[in-house]
Amino acid sequence: MSCFALVPAAGSGARMGATTPKQYLDLLGKPLIWHTLRALSAVPEITRVCVVISAGDEWWNSYDWSAFERLQVLRCGGATRAESVLNGLRAADVADADWALVHDAARPCLDPQLVSAMIVRLQHDAVGGILAVPVADTLKRAGMGERIARTEARDGLWQAQTPQMFRRGELIHAIAEFIGPDITDEASALEKQGKAPQLVMGSPWNLKVTWPQDLQLAALILQGAKNG
Ligand code: CTP
Ligand code: MG
Repeated sequence: MSCFALVPAAGSGARMGATTPKQYLDLLGKPLIWHTLRALSAVPEITRVCVVISAGDEWWNSYDWSAFERLQVLRCGGATRAESVLNGLRAADVADADWALVHDAARPCLDPQLVSAMIVRLQHDAVGGILAVPVADTLKRAGMGERIARTEARDGLWQAQTPQMFRRGELIHAIAEFIGPDITDEASALEKQGKAPQLVMGSPWNLKVTWPQDLQLAALILQGAKNG
């Protein structure tokens, strides 16, 4: 059993509203994705870290990545996250039986120990699983004119995070078969095949940088982690 990380990093970061894609925005003096790659590289069970960037990426080469020894760069990003992941899984120099840990470039505050615990928990699982956290807030369904139509039950609802850990061959088959607008993560493709991936407790620190304020939050989290 071998594990590799696959990091989709071919998005444009439209919701950040910046001219540079968010994976290259400055976070504590480094491009955001640097922190993501550092976290994955610190997981002893992960033998290779594959990054999927877009063919037209103008930013990657302007940084020094030599500190990351197990890095493989794949310039095969697609028009959607699922396409980038599928292209990257196919291009990665790994075996079908290997575990792929797909992790968003935009989640730079990942705790390596959480990933190790996830691998230990899932490595003998028949399906695989994902990091996720139970929904904490009360959920409202919007009706007309931004008024509340009703309150949705939140029992049993979880927010999906990454990494999402599945066997490379099985994940390729699942995404290739069901790729489309409702495949927003890896687990959803396996769910369409009738499989039930495990929910592994993630962390609120593992946020996805999506909106401008998130960059500041990520900086606070990383600084807090450094100070113990
Ligand atoms: N991603 C990708 N290829 C795409 C779209 C997204 O590899 N065609 C990656 C992003 O780079 C990011 C991860 O998937 O690391 C999660 O996607 P998201 O947070 O939605 O990033 P963006 O699509 O870049 O942001 P936005 O949706 O605001 O444009
Ligand atoms: Mg997106």
